[in-house]
Parts: sequence; structure tokens; C-alpha cells
Amino acid sequence: MRVAVAEIIKKEGEEVELFGWVHARRDHGKLAFIDLRDRSGIVQVVFGPSAGGGAAGGDPSVLRLEYVIRVKGKVKRRPPAMVNKDIPTGEYEVDAKELEIVSQAEPLPFPVDTAGYEINEELRLKYRYLDLRRERLVKGLEFRHRVVKFIRDYLDERGFLEIETPDLTRSTPEGARDYLVPSRIKTGSFYALPQSPQQYKQLLMVAGIEKYFQIARCFRDEDARGDRQPEFTQLDMEMSFAEQEDLIKLNEELLIALVNAVAPGKRIQEIPFPRLSYADAMKEYGTDRPDLRKDKDDKDLLAFCWVVDFPFFEKTENGGWTFTHNPFSAPKPEHMDDFLAKRNIGGILTTQYDVVMNGLEIGGGSIRNHRAEALKAAFEIMGFAEERIRASFGHMLEALAYGAPPHGGIAWGLDRLVSLLAGEPNIREVIAFPKTGDGRDPMMGSPAEVDKSQLDELGLEVKKIKK
Ligand code: AMO
Repeated sequence: MRVAVAEIIKKEGEEVELFGWVHARRDHGKLAFIDLRDRSGIVQVVFGPSAGGGAAGGDPSVLRLEYVIRVKGKVKRRPPAMVNKDIPTGEYEVDAKELEIVSQAEPLPFPVDTAGYEINEELRLKYRYLDLRRERLVKGLEFRHRVVKFIRDYLDERGFLEIETPDLTRSTPEGARDYLVPSRIKTGSFYALPQSPQQYKQLLMVAGIEKYFQIARCFRDEDARGDRQPEFTQLDMEMSFAEQEDLIKLNEELLIALVNAVAPGKRIQEIPFPRLSYADAMKEYGTDRPDLRKDKDDKDLLAFCWVVDFPFFEKTENGGWTFTHNPFSAPKPEHMDDFLAKRNIGGILTTQYDVVMNGLEIGGGSIRNHRAEALKAAFEIMGFAEERIRASFGHMLEALAYGAPPHGGIAWGLDRLVSLLAGEPNIREVIAFPKTGDGRDPMMGSPAEVDKSQLDELGLEVKKIKK
């Protein structure tokens, strides 16, 4: 039976069978040392004369880095002078009796025993399956898993249901460009990949679900940056019969509990999180996502804040109005009259709340318009004609007419939160298979051209566009 490397510290004196990769090798005359790596860690394997050679494939001199091997041997305590304090198994080693090469490996395009920041990123992404062998990235994936598991358990205990919503949907006006998917059955028509599950989660509230969440994949055709990817993950949440205060409280408690559970070395600067109005944030810090850390050298300091009271609308280039965050948001209750009367538009504030950590927007949400006439007013203020409103949002207006509960929600940028808590400089480091800055996956070679027959079936023809 296979034993994981990390387990050997409990097996002194026992014979164990290990499987893993050759992480390093050192030859010292009659003795050869292999660092054997599996997902759980690294252990030193010693090949003395007793390991034998040749016949049983037991000769360590044929081993190369990253070969997959099977080793059988006895767990021994190392002499005190030989203890390696840098690894959890460092007080032990395995005295090899049997060696089998399970898989050979070509020389790797880059080392995997370093942090990897120094390696060209295009190359790292082309060979991501090798890049992911490095300890830092494995730790990042483990950390992300723990974050997601904590969130799921926390919300489950509080009555939330995780519900999947479609990836083939229609455009939502969330401010970015959509990724389109052509329909084969209805040629000339397109699905859009969701920029967020916004409309579906609101429709789940109309359905009476009351408490929804989802670890949701979102797609936005925008230029990637350190904190942006064309596809990214949100913790998406929606609640019925809840007010702004309820959502802020729940999310603040969840963030604090999460940090304490998964990143206990971090210190939250101020609890409850300070709240700033948009106007004050702009006046005092010149930004709506201020970095409130009192000591910016402290890598373990987390300064959260809420930013509220955003203007609902801003002027467009051609003199009209557009929403600043979300067209489905409700105005602040005291501005509802102006909103419905389309009066004093620049002065209308929304119920939008953003949560900011160390100067990065990690989430945002709002209370929604649960009355059809209010949702319609938002589109009318933006100058949408009646037919356009009906065509694009008729289903939402209709749904709100069938007994819609008051509701509100929020979405966190999960990649951002995880990368910040993990101390990583960008979100690509905590995403298993991220895209490059210009939206490519060098490993899969996507995006890629497709066969003419596929285009024909979809009724599509590709026009060359000069860039
Ligand atoms: P919003 O558009 O503010 O809200 O998105 C919520 C959070 O998602 C993160 N985020 C991103 N992360 C990585 N790459 C991107 N391209 C990217 N774009 C956004 C940010 C942001 O705060 N439906 C609403 C939420 C709601 O109102 O409930 C929404 O999507 O951290």
C-alpha cells in the first residue's frame, strides 16, 4: 500500500512503499541520496549498498530529475547532525531496498524547485502542468481549496443553498464586453457567457429560494491585468428580505471568520470595518478603493473598509446617463421618489456597497429593485427605448410582476481575495490555468481557428479585421 511522504514521520522502523517524483539527487561515493516528492512533501531516500542494483532496476545512478519512481524501504531517524529543519520529514529518511522507475522524464524546460517568479511567464503557462509541480503553486491551490470549503460550510450552516446557473445565457449589461457563443440550431443567434449570474440569482429570489450562493465562473471580454482575468471566479450571493445592513454584517462576519480560519497570521486593522461614503473616499483619498493600512510595510496587515453611497448614474460621453455599478440596484430609499420621477438624476445615490481590502476592490453588491416600475425607471433614465427594454429585460420586468420579494446580494472576486491572503502579487498565481495578459492560453493554444466545416455548420464566415 502506498504511503504518502508526509506520513513517514509516524512510521519509524516500518517498511514503507512510496511513489513520487525525483526532486533532487546527490551522489556521495557509495551512498546516493534522492529527494522524493509527492503532493504531501519531500523525503530523503538513501541508496546504500543494500539497495542493490541493475537487475531489479534498483540502480539510482540512472535516475534523472522528475522521473516517477516507486521506492520501498525502511523509515529511519537521521543522525542529529544530519537533520534538515527546513522540511517536515527532516528528522527521518528512508533506507531504500527496492527501486522501480515508473515513468521517465525529459529534461524540464525550467526548474520546479524554486518559487518560479524568475521564469518567463509565457513559458510557465505553456508548461503549466510542470509549473504547478512547484511547492508554492501547490500551496496556493491548497489554500484556495480551503478558502472555498470554508465559505461553503459557513454559508451552508446559515441556510444558503449553492445553486448552479447556466454558462450559456444572454448578454447582461455589466459594463464589459460579452463573450459570444454562436448557436448551431438557431444560426445567426448567439448565447453570451455570463459576466456574472446577476439575473439568475435575482430570478432565484423570485422563485422563493431566499438564500443563494455560488462559487461562480464569470466571463468578461476585457484586457487582463494583474487583478483581472477574462474568466474569473466570484463568490456570488443573494438574499431575500434582507437590507443593506444585513448583507454588510453577514459578509463582514464571513470575511473575519475566513481570515481567522485560513490565514491566522494575518491581522485585521479595524473591526468593525470602517465605512466611507463614496464622496468622502474621493475627497480624502482620491479613490473609491482606498488603502487604509496604517503600516504599509506590514505584509500581514489587512485593512478592510466598506464604501457606500455611490452615485447611481454618471454622465456618458454623449451627454446621456449610464449606471456606475449595476442597473438592477435600487436607489437609496430616500432617493426613490427622485428616481421614479427621473428627477435630480446626478444626485441619486444607490444602495451599492463595495468591500475594499488594502486598496483593492474585493467585492461589491447592492439591494435590488424588486418592483418592475423601479427597474424600468433605471433603463428609462439611461435613455433605453421601450422596445429595447422589453427585448433585453422583459423577462426580468415580467418576473418582478409575480410577487418578487425584496432582495439584495453581493459578489466577491474570489481570485483577488485568495491572491491577497496568500501574499501573491497577481491572481494568475492562484488560478490553476490562467490566461496571459492578452487572453491566450499558451498551453492549449487557445483561442484557435476552427475548421471551415464547423463555421459552415454555424452559418459563420470569418472576416479579417485590420488591427
Ligand atoms: P462586480 O462586477 O463588481 O459585481 O464584480 C464583483 C467582484 O468581482 C471581481 N472582478 C474580477 N476579478 C477578476 N477578474 C475580473 N475581470 C474581474 N471583474 C470583477 C472584483 C469585483 O469586486 N453581479 C455583481 C455583484 C452583485 O451586485 O451582487 C457583480 O458582478 O473583485
